[in-house]
Amino acid sequence: MGYNVAVDGPAGAGKSTIAKLVAKEKGYIYVDTGAMYRALAIHFLKKGVAPEDTGAVIDACRDADVSIRYEGGVQNVYLNGENVTGMLRAEEVGNMASRTSAIPEVRAKLLELQRALARENDVIMDGRDIGTNILPDADVKIYLTASVQTRAKRRYDELKEKGGTCDLAQIEQDIRERDERDMNRETAPLKKAEDAVLVDSSDMTIEEVVAKICSCCR
Ligand code: DC
Repeated sequence: MGYNVAVDGPAGAGKSTIAKLVAKEKGYIYVDTGAMYRALAIHFLKKGVAPEDTGAVIDACRDADVSIRYEGGVQNVYLNGENVTGMLRAEEVGNMASRTSAIPEVRAKLLELQRALARENDVIMDGRDIGTNILPDADVKIYLTASVQTRAKRRYDELKEKGGTCDLAQIEQDIRERDERDMNRETAPLKKAEDAVLVDSSDMTIEEVVAKICSCCR
């Protein structure tokens, strides 16, 4: 069994930025489970499946094979042998992932892949249900959050930096909708595990959050 750190929290809380830095400092592998849901979402988009057509989504899962390879310490995600890492962050992929991840069969498809990575490696794994469902016996559990306004502003700055045009109010609205879906679905909703340490990063720097999480780890 590897040493396991679970990090859960809502969209835009900074989980991946923080988890990557903790992984580097502690020598863990960073496992981004959202990327796995996003890879499946690309499969559904390619097949033209509507997220509300649950039967078609479940059907489409049958010919989707998601795998992970670590290349130069970076997680690359493969969908049916194709490296889709570069496509994962598109907005439509995130929305499709948020919708289809509510379907139990979609979650079941990725559960064993996530558990196997944690069994075989020292990992910091981020997602929505890692501490509550995937790794209930994780050595450390963190619930990383921030206010909706802070998360929207961070996303806005990130998009601006990439040269995109964006609307802060629209981003805030998208984040609220995603929170609503992720926290209120029936299967494995986003919630803080009872034994998770709550970290609200609204008024913290990246360095402070990394230091806080590292202080919880061996
Ligand atoms: O963390 P992210 O934005 O890359 O995740 C995309 C979507 O995938 C998110 O809206 C909810 C879903 N997800 C999930 O249900 N469970 C996880 N462990 C990770 C992500």
